[in-house]
Amino acid sequence: MRHLRSTLAFAALTLAGTLALATAAPGQPAPSQPPPAPDADKAAPDPTLALIQAKCTMCHDTGFILQGHHTAADWKDLVNQMVARGADVSDAEADQIVAYLAKTQPATPPAS
Ligand code: HEC
Repeated sequence: MRHLRSTLAFAALTLAGTLALATAAPGQPAPSQPPPAPDADKAAPDPTLALIQAKCTMCHDTGFILQGHHTAADWKDLVNQMVARGADVSDAEADQIVAYLAKTQPATPPAS
């Protein structure tokens, strides 16, 4: 009985080893890189920049907007002026754009 059990165990190990070898067949390297995972945060352009490009470029281009440097209060005034001119943004979108511009285009410190 003892002998039979160890023989069965050996057979099982041999089978397992064969399967493992078959799985790791040479000539079929594992994929070196996983497929690129969709990472909205990193891959997509800033959603507010996309909003500006969608809403603020019918009269001038984005570069014209992004060349300016203003305080948050001045950006708010400017965006309000653009809304008065006809920029089609909701209050929430205007706030979002003001926050974005205040962060990315802050007033340059005065050259002393
Ligand atoms: C209906 C047309 C129109 C739309 C839409 C528009 N603008 Fe303007 N924008 C103008 C005009 C005209 C000027 C030039 C104003 C001037 O020279 O006094 C201007 C000027 C500007 C300036 C420069 C202001 C300065 O004096 O430095 C900024 C910044 C600006 N726009 C931002 C925006 C933003 C942000 C949006 C979207 C929310 C927007 N604009 C949408 C017409 C528009």
